[in-house]
Amino acid sequence: MANLVVVGTQWGDEGKGKVVDILSQWFDAVARYQGGNNAGHTVVVEEEKIVLHLVPSGVLRRGKICILGNGVVIDLEALIHEMDQLERLQVRLAGNFYISKGAHLVLPYHKILDAAREQKALHRIGTTGRGIGPAYVDKMARVGIRVAALADPPIFKERLALNLAEKRAQHPENEALAALDLEQICADHMRFAERIAPFEADTSLVLDRMLKEGKRVLFEGAQGTLLDIDLGTYPYVTSSSATAGGACTGTGVSPRRIDGILGVVKAYTTRVGGGPFPTELTDATGDYLRERGQEFGATTGRQRRCGWFDAVGVRYAVRVNGVDALALTKLDVLDQVDPIRICVGYRWRGRRIDEFPVETAHLLQCEPIYEDMPGWMAPTVGILRYPDLPDNCRRYIERLEALAGAPCALISTGPRRSETILRDLPATAPWRLGPAG
Ligand code: GDP
Ligand code: IMO
Ligand code: MG
Repeated sequence: MANLVVVGTQWGDEGKGKVVDILSQWFDAVARYQGGNNAGHTVVVEEEKIVLHLVPSGVLRRGKICILGNGVVIDLEALIHEMDQLERLQVRLAGNFYISKGAHLVLPYHKILDAAREQKALHRIGTTGRGIGPAYVDKMARVGIRVAALADPPIFKERLALNLAEKRAQHPENEALAALDLEQICADHMRFAERIAPFEADTSLVLDRMLKEGKRVLFEGAQGTLLDIDLGTYPYVTSSSATAGGACTGTGVSPRRIDGILGVVKAYTTRVGGGPFPTELTDATGDYLRERGQEFGATTGRQRRCGWFDAVGVRYAVRVNGVDALALTKLDVLDQVDPIRICVGYRWRGRRIDEFPVETAHLLQCEPIYEDMPGWMAPTVGILRYPDLPDNCRRYIERLEALAGAPCALISTGPRRSETILRDLPATAPWRLGPAG
């Protein structure tokens, strides 16, 4: 009994890839439950940096079972590109990797519609352009095409033809849609189907069998709480359930099987794309965090907007996910910052509020209320024990813990595996970081 959901507590890019890579050594399987190749999860092994977009971040540990659940949307061309890259790195996928037959496909018209909407939209979301939103729209509209359909080429082609005709009728002006070649898409997908056929499975069943054998499963969230379709800063969100609840519907595993929730949180805040960001810094400090933290998108290479830690948002994420403990990342980026500001509440229409507003227009009007902490002005990279961190650094962490309402079980002070502090805390007892015991 020790299954864990790892979830982002901000607007994504919290360092989930690194955290999942570290933790996966103590798990038997890692399952992605939502999102698609809009995600970019970075894992650094030795000196090699690997960015995973679809394949779970446990794949670099030998023998771990990696699963793409039914809640994920899959661009087969992107997935196969990633699989080929991994195999070139001598990663063995055969027997270790399963793709849900129930996962929906991201098709060429989804990418075209994603781009078209961004061009025309009044409020641009600043999507990754990977076709993720339109693929989930089709899923909800019950016209999506799932992995399983690839096994029956005539049916696949019929559905594709219908969808393409419908999209063209809805967007008669769209030249890129008009130019799509049905035969070509079909031929490409039949080729892709052959490549992925050995990996297709009923992944809910695969997971159930593992759980019945007492194996440990780690659920890897993509994006973050504030990008969740229901609980994020709507409409500036992604189109899937990034929060912990999505782990069950996105894999076909019962909520009864989940033993713990770990929230990944950056020591400051970043966001890519549009939408409110109360603690955003558009000054030299923001530029400093971007440079020092290398805050450039792992998927699109876009600059990430940077700002101070927002305890209102993180406390909200702790609540809606039921976070037991946090994994705090990128602490080292603040090594030379003094003072360090923490947003402890918002001022909105003349009064103080401590709860994250449901209405995004209200969040846009919120002014952060800051508390200043003295910096530690000393390197933390490579420190392995919590007591060895500088005093002011521990004070900063303890303040974040108190404000967020959850303890930090893991503290990351650099991108590498070794640059990690693990703490044995009562809150993590049900799923303890470390060997099952
Ligand atoms: P994810 O989407 O949540 O997996 O995060 P990304 O991989 O998109 O972005 C996190 C970036 O920070 C990656 O480049 C990581 O290699 C890097 N990173 C992770 N943890 C740390 C850390 O503790 N310190 C520093 N300096 N970089 C980190
Ligand atoms: P990881 O898993 C950060 C953002 C986009 C955009 C919005 C909608 O690496 O943390 P989409 O293409 O999903 O329709 O874009 O969501 N976004 C992310 N931001 N990290 C991600 O993933 C993201 N995935 C999507 O920038 O604002
Ligand atoms: Mg990322």
